[in-house]
Amino acid sequence: MTIKEIFDTMDYGPAPESAAEALAWLVDQGDRFGHFIDGAFTKPGKGFESRNPATGEVLAMLTQATQADVDAAVAAARKAQPKWEGLGGAGRARHLYAIARLLQKHARLFAVLESLDNGKPIRESRDIDIPLAQRHFYYHAGMAQLMESALPDAEPLGVCGQIIPWNFPLLMLAWKIAPALAMGNTVVLKPAEYTSLTALLFADICKQAGLPKGVVNIVTGDGAVGEMIVAAEVDKIAFTGSTAVGRRIREATAGRGLELTLELGGKSPYVVFDDADIDSAIEGLVDAIWFNQGQVCCAGSRLLVQEGIAERFHDKLRARMDGLRVGNPLDKCIDVGAVVDPVQLQTIKSMVDANTAGQVHHAACELPENGCYYPPTLITGLETSDPLMQEEIFGPVLVSSTFRTPAEAVELANNTRYGLAATVWTENVNLALDIAPKLAAGVVWVNATNLFDAAAGFGGVRESGFGREGGWEGLSAYTRPKGKAKPLTRVEARTGDGGPVDPIDRTAKMYVGGKQARPDGGYSRPVWGKSGLLGHVGLANRKDVRNAVEAAAGAASWGRTTGHLRAQILYYIGENLSARSDEFARRIDAMTGRKDGAKEVDAAIQRLFTAAAWADKYDGQVHGVPIRGVALAMKEPVGVIGALCADEAPLLGLVSVMAPAIAMGNRVVLAASEPYPLAATDFYQVLDTSDVPAGVVNILTGSHADMAKPLASHLNVDAVWSFSSTDLSGAIEKASAGNLKRTWVNNGRAFDWNTDQTRRFLQAATEVKNIWVPYGE
Ligand code: NAI
Repeated sequence: MTIKEIFDTMDYGPAPESAAEALAWLVDQGDRFGHFIDGAFTKPGKGFESRNPATGEVLAMLTQATQADVDAAVAAARKAQPKWEGLGGAGRARHLYAIARLLQKHARLFAVLESLDNGKPIRESRDIDIPLAQRHFYYHAGMAQLMESALPDAEPLGVCGQIIPWNFPLLMLAWKIAPALAMGNTVVLKPAEYTSLTALLFADICKQAGLPKGVVNIVTGDGAVGEMIVAAEVDKIAFTGSTAVGRRIREATAGRGLELTLELGGKSPYVVFDDADIDSAIEGLVDAIWFNQGQVCCAGSRLLVQEGIAERFHDKLRARMDGLRVGNPLDKCIDVGAVVDPVQLQTIKSMVDANTAGQVHHAACELPENGCYYPPTLITGLETSDPLMQEEIFGPVLVSSTFRTPAEAVELANNTRYGLAATVWTENVNLALDIAPKLAAGVVWVNATNLFDAAAGFGGVRESGFGREGGWEGLSAYTRPKGKAKPLTRVEARTGDGGPVDPIDRTAKMYVGGKQARPDGGYSRPVWGKSGLLGHVGLANRKDVRNAVEAAAGAASWGRTTGHLRAQILYYIGENLSARSDEFARRIDAMTGRKDGAKEVDAAIQRLFTAAAWADKYDGQVHGVPIRGVALAMKEPVGVIGALCADEAPLLGLVSVMAPAIAMGNRVVLAASEPYPLAATDFYQVLDTSDVPAGVVNILTGSHADMAKPLASHLNVDAVWSFSSTDLSGAIEKASAGNLKRTWVNNGRAFDWNTDQTRRFLQAATEVKNIWVPYGE
């Protein structure tokens, strides 16, 4: 080729990275792998091939774990855990740091092996996957070092089962293992069946780093092995993968007292306003949807472009797409590599082929003849209801639609069951920062996309799952508060004991949408005190629950009020309760037959004041991420929280839940203490006189068991908490799988209401949204 021809075509010659070292490492291992259990590799057993998706060549044989393998791995992790925890934060930090150093030392080997196994361009594995994995271990070495001083009340959970997908094999492993180990847990991890090789190389690194045996255990195999881990005697499951499997795991773990975090799918919007720097926005799109062949859970797969620039934008985009180079992942000059496996390639093809709407543009690039390749694709002119606008394709396929106004952009962006990430492009900082809080997403990137760092938590809302990975918030998923809880004891309602019967009907109504409400079914039950009948309360049914949830959903503007205003209202509730404290204390004593009513009322007033104090102080953070910009970790309300309140502490239990929840901008549907409901029905008179807007607090009475399922399965409820003395944990967790709502249930353990645990409630009442904004150089 002449120089002139090179200038004319601007073609790159190939610049392949050598696979020799990685292939030699595979040969050294005998091309066959067992599992890594208790610090050693097991003998390879029956299994399956791991292939290079770019060529179809077999790279190695992997072993399908049996039940005995999983049991052995869990037992090794269990045995190793106390000693690992006992090393202390500083001791664990040294190990994590040693792993980080070795990952750095062998970075090129990891990058090449990753690209061979997964098909991703070497440019990405070399510059993104592997450096970010190292960064995660360095960052969490620091977290281990700081644990005792920064998180003095936290202790590890124990053994964590971790199941990861194939799109970022080593990086997902790092996201799972580093925080778990830092906090003193041990792990059993299963890589995805298509991409287990870097996990096995990592096991080798653990050996080299002198990690105590049993701290990290890696078992290979398919979804059946994942199911075995989920069913095992572990203390936590951390999963990243498809929403369908996430939902099954939610159901399978229900009622077992396990911690669970789910990082699931997405259909993340990429919003381009007409004043955006269009060329930058197009380069951003290349990273949003063609990075890793679009096999990215937070891929900006749904382009929303403002109408006035749509045509120009699409034209430029098509031209850019046509210049993308698709090919050998080990070639440093290619932009798009191979899809992970023929199965995934077929899924992408079938989804695109089934679509008849809009206009499809496949990039005019040449595809290699063999291997799992799919051209970068743009589909314009789709309606929001078209399946491809709603379903995750997990391939290099971008769908596009237009909008006119910022309000419409927000509406379209949020028109999905997911809520993982979102990208906003505009040169107008006011517009960007006006839109960012309105997007239903755990991560928002402004004028950039697909940025990740260990310091900034990652995770979604809605059906994109729950929990965060990275940052301070990621750690809470691997710790629990110190201390042993007592077992739950059921509190039974008093039955009639022949005391005096008041001839006046005193049936306390429920409180829905700021109004008193009769039970839909028309049934009520008597509430007996020690010395006679105290009144009646309505029995809420499914319809009452629905009405209360609708009222709460309708009061969404509460979440947009200021912390200052919410604090004032909470102080006001506290004052008004204080003015009636004797009456409340008598009521509590009459119901419970105890004499601690006055103490309970005092504590409830304190809880209100504490929540009021926090309302304008439980702030987010600004993370100094090592990429041009900062990440604003904003605390947002979870939304509508349904809670079954404590039976034993009829006022304090309700107030301890309600006050922090509404302080953070949530709306609540509270099921009053089942045996002693009258403190709650008296309490709404206090709310009525305290300027609490209608629908922010709704109070139902009746059977917790009857209300649990309708609350936990209602699609407008975002979180369900249960402190009922009837253990409904399993039923709630199972029913919550529908829209993957957040749950906090007592799992047969009593809660200590006398100790102020407001911080825990504040944490459960908020979601962290990380908004990445350009800042500095
Ligand atoms: P998947 O969710 O089936 O696999 C993820 C991991 O879960 C793998 O390690 C797999 O072996 C394991 N697994 C599968 N079934 C399981 C079960 N019943 N119990 C426990 N573990 C189980 O994802 P798959 O089939 O590889 O991809 C299917 C679709 O899922 C993709 O097309 C994509 O849409 C989505 N996906 C989303 C990811 C994300 O990060 N959000 C990652 C991978 C896939």
